[in-house]
Amino acid sequence: MTEPDLAPTPTLTDVLAARDLLTGRLPATPMWSYPALDEVAGATVYVKHENVQPTGAFKVRGGLTLLHGMARERRRRGLVSYSTGNHAQSLAYACAELDVPCVLVMPAGVADGKVRAVRALGATVLLDGVDMAGAQAAAERLAADEGRHLVSPGDTPELLAGVGTAYLEIFAARPDLDLLVVPVGSGTGAAAACLVAQEFAPRCRIVAVQSAAAPAAHDSWRAGECVRRPIGTAVEGLATGRGFRLPQRLLRGRLSDFHLVSDERIAAAQRLLALHAHTLAEGAGAAGLAAVLARPDLFAGRRVCVVCTGGNASAAEIAALGAGDGNRTSG
Ligand SMILES: Cc1ncc(COP(=O)(O)O)c(C=O)c1O
Repeated sequence: MTEPDLAPTPTLTDVLAARDLLTGRLPATPMWSYPALDEVAGATVYVKHENVQPTGAFKVRGGLTLLHGMARERRRRGLVSYSTGNHAQSLAYACAELDVPCVLVMPAGVADGKVRAVRALGATVLLDGVDMAGAQAAAERLAADEGRHLVSPGDTPELLAGVGTAYLEIFAARPDLDLLVVPVGSGTGAAAACLVAQEFAPRCRIVAVQSAAAPAAHDSWRAGECVRRPIGTAVEGLATGRGFRLPQRLLRGRLSDFHLVSDERIAAAQRLLALHAHTLAEGAGAAGLAAVLARPDLFAGRRVCVVCTGGNASAAEIAALGAGDGNRTSG
């Protein structure tokens, strides 16, 4: 697997430029608090609803920013990238808008609904590899063989700047937040949150969260270098298996803390969002709430934003919503 030179680190100016570019293409998403959810959490919890994006996840902000800013010649070559689902939908959506040929390599075994959604947007899907590393290797081969432009889901500055626009919306609405909890796979969302908070809400602590069963980004942040870890989680958006250099570089020194939660806690948070916030969240989209519920010592009595990053729950996740007591938060 190749390690290309690292792209320039995005700045707040890039996030502001992305906002201008997205204006008129994506409306701002809502952010609400729900008294019954606050009661369970013992905190004022604002849920930022990225699950209502046209692709069902925040990633679409990045795909549109990348494609609209890309030189025509590069677009003509076509794109190839790799993803467990939401980055794939984001690129497919943006490529459909601009009529750019696009191949997405997804690990075999990702949720069928996500594969169908990407294909329905007109992109070509190849199922290859048992995990993201396998899918990445296949995407790199395709890029070399066909001359397509290879898009890294984690180390592409335009993707990071694009997803940062969600945090401009959050801090414009609630500059008084005490804490913001961001689910992490590659880390683009959390890194962008740090960039934006530094300027617009310097008092707000940014907390990242990942599944304890796939802690590569967490362990990379703690180690100060990118490491690989096995993937034992069913939570697709968080299942990256390695640290990505660009977001890690931004997280270093800016992120307040990085928590790990169990998949069981994430499932319990999904049930709570369904019960009390009439929200269908996929596991990754509920991880922020899971982190809040896991650590009342840190979050109780505070003003907290959790980003519901996606709503593309699999059939199994939807079936599991009916299992168990929505008020149980242990696990
Ligand atoms: C729903 C959802 N939440 C969170 C993440 C993690 O985002 P990032 O890769 O920017 O850390 C992803 C990644 O695909 C996702 O799909």
